[in-house]
Amino acid sequence: MTATRYVREGTLAVLEIDNPPVNALSGLVISGLIEGFDKFERDEDAAALVLRCRGRTFVAGGDIAMFDDPAFSPAPFNDLLNRISASPRRVVAELFGTVLGGGLELALACHFRIACENTRFALPEIRLGLIPGSHGTQRLPRLVGLAEAGRMISTGEMIDTGRALEIGLIDLIADSADAVAIATLSPRPVAAQAEGAPEVLRNLADAAQLRIHEPAYQAIAETLAAAAQLPFEKAAEVEADWFRRLLPSAPARAQRYLFFAERRSAEVPGLSRGAATRAVERVGVLGAGMMGVGIALSFALAGLPVTLSEVEQSRIDAALERIEGTLAGMVRRGRLSEHAAQACRNRISGAVGIKALSQADLVIEAVFEDMAIKLDVARELGRTCKPGAIIATNTSTLDVDVIAAATGRPQDVVGTHFFSPAHVMRLLEVVRGRETAADVLSTVLGIARRIGKTVAVSGVCYGFIGNRMAEVYMRESEAMQLEGASPERIDGVIEDPAWLGMAMGPSRMLDMAGVDVGARTVIEWIASGEGPQEPAYRALCRRMFETGSHGQKAGYGYYRYEGRKALSNPAHAALAAELAELHGVVHRNDLTEREIFERLLYPMVNEAAHILAEGIAARGSDIDVVWTAGYGFPRWRGGPLFMADEIGLPEIVARLDHYAARDGDPHGYWQVSPLLRSLAAQGGRISSWTGKGERE
Ligand code: NAI
Repeated sequence: MTATRYVREGTLAVLEIDNPPVNALSGLVISGLIEGFDKFERDEDAAALVLRCRGRTFVAGGDIAMFDDPAFSPAPFNDLLNRISASPRRVVAELFGTVLGGGLELALACHFRIACENTRFALPEIRLGLIPGSHGTQRLPRLVGLAEAGRMISTGEMIDTGRALEIGLIDLIADSADAVAIATLSPRPVAAQAEGAPEVLRNLADAAQLRIHEPAYQAIAETLAAAAQLPFEKAAEVEADWFRRLLPSAPARAQRYLFFAERRSAEVPGLSRGAATRAVERVGVLGAGMMGVGIALSFALAGLPVTLSEVEQSRIDAALERIEGTLAGMVRRGRLSEHAAQACRNRISGAVGIKALSQADLVIEAVFEDMAIKLDVARELGRTCKPGAIIATNTSTLDVDVIAAATGRPQDVVGTHFFSPAHVMRLLEVVRGRETAADVLSTVLGIARRIGKTVAVSGVCYGFIGNRMAEVYMRESEAMQLEGASPERIDGVIEDPAWLGMAMGPSRMLDMAGVDVGARTVIEWIASGEGPQEPAYRALCRRMFETGSHGQKAGYGYYRYEGRKALSNPAHAALAAELAELHGVVHRNDLTEREIFERLLYPMVNEAAHILAEGIAARGSDIDVVWTAGYGFPRWRGGPLFMADEIGLPEIVARLDHYAARDGDPHGYWQVSPLLRSLAAQGGRISSWTGKGERE
């Protein structure tokens, strides 16, 4: 088996890589490149060497699975890069597609880089908690300067061909490298040491200080400083040393785990990869409120025509105006070209009434979260949508099976739970109903990929995967508030990267989403008889709902707001004290940071174990995808379950037992899931648990 080929084309030698689907740098590709380069060195009458890839892209990175192999070392590849760069004859990289990571480092070692239009470039290693380990931290800054290199390496963001030419990353925009073109290229001076303003290095060092729990940022600061101060060989040793240390570090392992988790989460057990799908060419969105607008934008930005339907024209006008505002903002911030914004605008049309959706292949309803209204709408959609059209509901809490039954065609119905703002948030929680047809599920998973979403599939239950776990998190946050801890203290612990590093603590999050939205759900859940019947249960948010303390938009919630700034809210402290008194909750002076952390995280892990045991989620890793892509759980922690495994399941079970014993557990909140207990006893990991009990 080979993944490379060495051929002559007239005076040129061509070394071609063929490793579908993305020409990733595997061991085989690397050894093939070394052999091919040996041939070129012996092939003395070849004027120059062209590095080329077959298929749809130049090398789009390293084979990430290799990084978990303890025997892995970048040294053989790096030696090859040094030989290429030192070659007296010209070596040219012919670039197209997405030139990422090790692929870009390979191109950087060449003397020239020729790229066709629409090529994109990035060093995304930081997203895996790593730095480029094949001289990227050295060759890039020497070529384009410290500022540009610092930006690319510390954000991992892609740049396009135009930008690459501007900063000097590539030499020429052309479809292919011919002998004449190569002969006319004049070598770009490569600085012996990287140049740039001293504040670039200071800023990188400051950024590293702010993220001391993610050592890759420290590595970036130090390797770029080395690029500016040391000769190449010495500086490359600094890079090699950091890379070696980062590979087995916890943040890097966590992000590698997530990388694979996000690919796996789109595969549903029992649903084959090439399963039949239904064609989706037109999308309909019913209800142009906050979510409907974002959902319509997600599809239109991805190139799909969308019809937005509402109950009256004024609401459509208002929605189109909001869409206009969002697109204009994206153009202003350089996120979208004016041309693309115009194309997106043209794809969205508004119409009054459900009839306007009769030709859509996929209709997503995002009307009010009210079962009576949802059922009316479902009945009408069932009659109006063309045969075979998929009917999706964006409900965040209601029973998808009940809604599906009302359409009269439950096989066509699926839940698509978007997160707000829908065109920004990466997560799409796909809810598989009891009768959802396999091709409906496959189609929705395919569409999700098309609109750039990360998916996780959930079964039907209260809150699905994400909000069901958020419920126990909110429960403990409010319970501790009644015991006397302030929202800022609780949020502060969980936002502190030394404990966890959530983007937003529970109170800040609910204030932003709207206390009314969250409270209404809790009130209905309790009223249905399914939720806890304890009077103190989330008494805080229920009272805040009644009194209009609806969070940021109201100016008051768990916090008091001046603009977007959250300040301590004395009225809230008084309310917590009043409710504590009313419900006989004992004030605790001894609430430690450790207790706050444990009472927020460990019940979520326990709830996740119930979710797995019930088959609501198929794998532990799917749950981590939900929390990292949808709830601001830090990626470098891997997710709540990966973090639980790192802490150790026996410790978590022991602490859950401790709180149950200490507080008596009258409502069974601390009862440990049998699955969690048995995993802890057997030394298993919950993040790698699958329904079949296998480890993936
Ligand atoms: P919203 O209140 O902003 O918008 C609902 C829209 O639906 C309104 O514009 C209303 O005029 C329209 N509508 C009501 N009945 C209709 C009918 N029969 N035909 C056509 N349009 C109708 O609500 P929001 O926040 O956009 O929520 C919509 C859905 O998305 C709900 O099911 C909600 O639970 C869910 N959701 C909300 C999230 C959020 O953060 N707000 C997050 C995820 C899901």
